[in-house]
Amino acid sequence: MYRSHSCGELRASDINSTVTLSGWVQKTRDKGFMIWVDLRDRYGITQLIFDEERTPSDVVEKAKTLGREFVIQVTGTVIERESKNKNIPTGEIEILVSELNILNEAIVPPFTIEDQTDGGEDIRMKYRYLDIRRNPVKNNLMFRHKVGMLVRNYLSKEDFIEVETPYLIKSTPEGARDFVVPSRMNEGQFYALPQSPQTFKQLLMVGGMDKYFQIVKCFRDEDLRADRQPEFTQIDCEMAFVEQEDILNIFEGLTRHLISEIKGISIQDFPRMTYDEAMRTYGNDKPDIRFEMKFGELNEVTQHKEFKVFNEAELVVGIAVPGGASYTRKEIDKLIDWVKRPQVGALGMVYVKCNEDGSYKSSVDKFYDQEDLAKWAETTNAKPGDLICVLSGQAHKVRGQLSALRMELAERLGLRNPEEFAPLWVVDFPLLEWDEETERYHAMHHPFTSPKPEDIALLDTKPGDVRANAYDLVLNGNEIGGGSIRIHDKETQALMFDHLGFTPDEAKEQFGFLMDAFQYGAPPHGGIAFGFDRLVSILGGQETIRDFIAFPKNNSGRDVMIDAPANIDQEQLKELNIQLDL
Ligand code: AMO
Repeated sequence: MYRSHSCGELRASDINSTVTLSGWVQKTRDKGFMIWVDLRDRYGITQLIFDEERTPSDVVEKAKTLGREFVIQVTGTVIERESKNKNIPTGEIEILVSELNILNEAIVPPFTIEDQTDGGEDIRMKYRYLDIRRNPVKNNLMFRHKVGMLVRNYLSKEDFIEVETPYLIKSTPEGARDFVVPSRMNEGQFYALPQSPQTFKQLLMVGGMDKYFQIVKCFRDEDLRADRQPEFTQIDCEMAFVEQEDILNIFEGLTRHLISEIKGISIQDFPRMTYDEAMRTYGNDKPDIRFEMKFGELNEVTQHKEFKVFNEAELVVGIAVPGGASYTRKEIDKLIDWVKRPQVGALGMVYVKCNEDGSYKSSVDKFYDQEDLAKWAETTNAKPGDLICVLSGQAHKVRGQLSALRMELAERLGLRNPEEFAPLWVVDFPLLEWDEETERYHAMHHPFTSPKPEDIALLDTKPGDVRANAYDLVLNGNEIGGGSIRIHDKETQALMFDHLGFTPDEAKEQFGFLMDAFQYGAPPHGGIAFGFDRLVSILGGQETIRDFIAFPKNNSGRDVMIDAPANIDQEQLKELNIQLDL
């Protein structure tokens, strides 16, 4: 038996009992006649004491050889600690050791295994197994497990069945590139790893499973960011005989349940907003609604003067920054530089200081008088003491730029409180999105999403105006989930493929199996997928999903611990019939 108790378990009530513990040496303090060791496992830390007077001398000698991260087993008596440590649950006791068994020695770790470590990100990723011994990472993984269990239990209670779908499949279009896997047995052919189980979950509905879910890995070859990994996990769901309202209700319930169980917060409001409104009011389809700074469109109140920049702009739009009137000239210049960075891309920024005395001071005083500026303040909802920041240009670009500024300022002003949770459904997404590069329409969500029946007539005349039965769940400015009601008849699906530029033959080759299935009695159905990594990290008060993934990839998509991706040898390539032309 390696242990009778864990290192986080013993209390004053255990004093005088004989126990056996196993774990890692966190720290040793050798005072000559007395040695203290902090023994650590997943559950906590227990102090061991080796005392020349009370511990056998060979055991004391052995204890002197212990180094950091040695794996040991000890047997001893629980005694009351002289100087108690109120900061840890085991702080009232220590173990007077009588037997010590070194289970494994350890070389010196490349960084300290402490909450505040001296190791940088790169080194911690290379030795991720050591990083996982640290509380912040360990706690995040345990937290992830907890959220996963709550999700599984909730959905099971709601009659969802977890079904596994294959990883070696044919391309499922979700807008990213596929990772592909060569097939040895089918020369020259490749599987694609699923970007999501989309087509399979729809086939499960045709198969009569009625309510499906899966906590499942998805793979997307796309540019990485703090909230994106090439392999990530979804809580993927699908339901038959449902309308959008049914789906929103179930997943609103799941979200409320999670926030209540984990944070003890009961969510009162679960607002909904159309995509159009989100874009107009926040310049963004995933607005953070924990704070205001709503967009005020200023075309009407700016385009009657001599200021050419505004007169020629498709959109003039501003936000009121709370308390911003006190910014110095230098601070405002810095803000202007910030919006002009290539990542944001604004050409410049006009500003108005709303003074406490009700007067205004703007960077365009030459063109606009106090009465004009008062109208700007009214439109942007600016109060005395605020700063109005105004951008102008092409509508879709300007909205993106002002949205970036809004988020940046909110961050600086501490308005993005991680302990506050503001979910939002964004609904009525456009069905199609124009792609400048390929000069054609793409499905904004995916090609299986159904258009709103009342908009189908517009498909031929104004395809960009057709709305979809598609929705996203946004939490604190992050897209947590997305889904749609699906097309469930062959004709509409064929129409959709046609509008996406697939010839009937191409559609048949890629999605014939789904079109076939639709001929055998496909029920009306729809679903949603939550980004599990994102959900967990936001509930955990952070926005970097890497911190909640045991073995994440870095920003170049590399696993620096196992050093992947890597070359494969010639033999293997030959077997796969792949010739590399390097
Ligand atoms: P979608 O593409 O919107 O929908 O993905 C669902 C959710 O998955 C998360 N997500 C990611 N998380 C981490 N890294 C990534 N690279 C990444 N990509 C997406 C997001 C997103 O909201 N099949 C559809 C769902 C459906 O229609 O039912 C789908 O995959 O949080």
